Amino acid sequence: MIRLRILFAVLTLLANASRASAAEDSRQPVELPGAMKEHMLTNMRDHLRTIEAMLAALAKGDAKMAAEEAEKRIGMSSLDAHGAAHMAPFMPEPMRQMGTAMHRAASRFRIVAENAELEPPATAQHSVHGALSEILATCNACHAAFRLK
Ligand code: HEC
Repeated sequence: MIRLRILFAVLTLLANASRASAAEDSRQPVELPGAMKEHMLTNMRDHLRTIEAMLAALAKGDAKMAAEEAEKRIGMSSLDAHGAAHMAPFMPEPMRQMGTAMHRAASRFRIVAENAELEPPATAQHSVHGALSEILATCNACHAAFRLK
């Protein structure tokens, strides 16, 4: 019985803790009209799939393929495919800038990955990992600041 009471006490604590952290969600909500929200989330899932494809290519030693995936699906070349021009006007300015930072980081990754062949292997690995982490830092920066309504 005592054990059960302790269990309930712990569960109550946990439930309160999770409510507290939900209340502390300080991300700014952003409202995208109509199908644009779904469109943006579809883009997001493709971003994550692209990171997978880039890592799979790198694991095969194919930096060129990783560079292509990054540029085509996340980089500056992907803006049209993502309908960026339609969505941008609905985003607060800092969010727009974070989006641009992501596209730029992916295009920089492309250059780093393409140049990697010219570097000694260890140096190349460090620069490619560095460029990849810079892309992910832009994903995380925006996720920490904004959510969709
Ligand atoms: C400009 C802002 C921004 C950038 C940059 C960004 N995201 Fe997002 N992402 C969002 C927002 C906003 C959501 C919705 C979160 C919410 O409402 O809780 C989201 C959601 C997601 C989701 C969930 C999709 C779903 O179906 O619910 C994934 C996966 C994701 N992002 C991956 C990424 C990856 C990977 C990157 C970087 C390559 C990235 N995002 C960059 C803003 C961004």
